[in-house]
Amino acid sequence: MSATPRAVVLVSGEGSNLQAIIDQVRRGALGLTLAGVVSDRPGVRALERAAAAGIAAHMVDHASDPPAFPGRLAAILTELQPDLVILAGFMRILPSELVDEYRGRMLNVHPSLLPKYPGLHTYRRALEAGDREHGSTVHFVIPALDAGPGIIQYRVPVHPGDTEASLRERVRAGEHLIYPRAIAWLAAGRVTLRDGAAWLDGERLTQPVVVDEARGAGASVAESPRPDIVCRQ
Ligand code: GAR
Repeated sequence: MSATPRAVVLVSGEGSNLQAIIDQVRRGALGLTLAGVVSDRPGVRALERAAAAGIAAHMVDHASDPPAFPGRLAAILTELQPDLVILAGFMRILPSELVDEYRGRMLNVHPSLLPKYPGLHTYRRALEAGDREHGSTVHFVIPALDAGPGIIQYRVPVHPGDTEASLRERVRAGEHLIYPRAIAWLAAGRVTLRDGAAWLDGERLTQPVVVDEARGAGASVAESPRPDIVCRQ
């Protein structure tokens, strides 16, 4: 890995997680440089955010030529030479060769308490199931969808009267806290993927580090990560 790791962020839409990452990179809290942002869709807000931050923004339009997409994406990544690949609302399944190339160096954030609800419509599924809590998980990416070892999880209680929109708003605010933190751990070599598990500071995580909504909000990425985290291992 380069002295200061180079990260590329893959996006498909709004880019609020990208913005949280950009904000923390600007504060020097992540220990990496952003080498580029790649979207699989044209005209998305995430591309505007990248451009506004002066980060090279690339678009590989999946819809215009689906079969060519994996090769075009791989070519851009080869050009950008990332040490780390960060999926931030990237709504496409990557070919397993690409995932293998970045094994241990590619993260995703998924809006559920994995292993619950891989795939789509996680808020609706949690509400329909009557779950009492929901949340989001940052995990290493492996070829199986949303199945890689979890690193950190943000949990919120489901309130009576919650809708998909209200739940999404609270969970997404938590993603903006936990995702930059996990990325900082990865950039610093503190979190690694080994023997099919995530390891943090040399300890195998038997479950992701847990941040509860009541405790986690407002904590800064720069500060020591453990004391303000409720770790339920
Ligand atoms: C995020 O909530 C992220 O968890 C989800 O998409 C949203 C993107 O928001 N990702 C997935 O569903 C991937 N399976 P953003 O574009 O505002 O960061």
